[in-house]
Amino acid sequence: MIPITKPFLPPCEEYYKLLEGVWKRQWLTNMGPLASELEMKLKNSLNVSHLLYVTNGTVALQMAIKALGLKDEIITTPFSFVATTSSIVWENCTPVFVDIDKDTLNIDASKIEAAITEKTSAILATHVYGNPCDVVAIQKIADKYNLRVIYDGAHAFGVNVNGKSIFEYGDITTCSLHATKLYHTIEGGLVITKDSNLLKELAYIRNFGFDGPEAFACLGLNGKNSEFHAAMGLANLRHIEAIHEKRKELTERYDEKLKGLKAYKPRWHKEANLNYAYYPLVLESEELLLKIKSVLELNEIFVRRYFYPSLASTLPYLESKHLEVTDRVSKSVVCLPLYFDLTLEEIDLIARLILRTQNN
Ligand SMILES: Cc1ncc(COP(=O)(O)O)c(C=O)c1O
Repeated sequence: MIPITKPFLPPCEEYYKLLEGVWKRQWLTNMGPLASELEMKLKNSLNVSHLLYVTNGTVALQMAIKALGLKDEIITTPFSFVATTSSIVWENCTPVFVDIDKDTLNIDASKIEAAITEKTSAILATHVYGNPCDVVAIQKIADKYNLRVIYDGAHAFGVNVNGKSIFEYGDITTCSLHATKLYHTIEGGLVITKDSNLLKELAYIRNFGFDGPEAFACLGLNGKNSEFHAAMGLANLRHIEAIHEKRKELTERYDEKLKGLKAYKPRWHKEANLNYAYYPLVLESEELLLKIKSVLELNEIFVRRYFYPSLASTLPYLESKHLEVTDRVSKSVVCLPLYFDLTLEEIDLIARLILRTQNN
């Protein structure tokens, strides 16, 4: 069986070694020493101004919206994981969907201005599959209309643009460190900002709004993460280069073996490095996708329609909106298996089955 993904796990001795310290200290959560060490190491290795380690990527988005005090309408992408949209609704704001660019699969910056109204407070865009949005164009629009910018960087761990972390763009960027991500802490997330005042606000929000043991600075939630999660993060961080190298090798093998396929990959930002988080393909048609999916499943190989369906047309708590590019792409996009333990031989088999199905 070849699943769509498998979490990376470090040698268990490395994890247990870190847990010995947890047992000694009996400090399990509430910003313990491992969580602080992880924050420091991630801040340095990602080269970002300020970073907080939080419960997960969804809470990170909610915290970002709350910290910026956003209201009313938030312009966003319909081509993302549901948490990008649901956190907007959860924070009592209204998502306004703008169609995506067919080549990059990110929000189409040239269509944002037409969606701005007096009620627009922000733009929340996803760096889909880790491919950076047009951050320069988006910031220009935000400056012109006095809007805040949040990036959902759930997929973008380790991506730099023009030599600078992609997490440094916008007012706040969030990241997910969920077990399915290329770098993970089992469950986990990050909020990143260049603004030290925002950092302070986010830190209060993460800890119920507490300002000392008997005072409150603001409305907060429980956005903390535990020492057990941080230990996994520290153990995994030691292997990040090997993870990156392996994913690169696997990706290049897919590229080589799938040359004859009638499909395209998202056009990557030309100033950015790849992080090999996913292997997405936009196929010629939904029909071909369904055929490939079922042949692979017969061979116990599992792919994922990621992202399908469009968030603009399927959520029961929102009015349905038809968006031409998103509707078309989401019906024909598929992510192939990609994880550290996958072998080149398995990729060859997947590619052979895909090409044979197309050519039949
Ligand atoms: C684009 C995107 N945003 C947000 C999330 C939510 O992250 P988490 O699962 O850590 O809450 C995910 C998770 O898959 C995601 O892919």
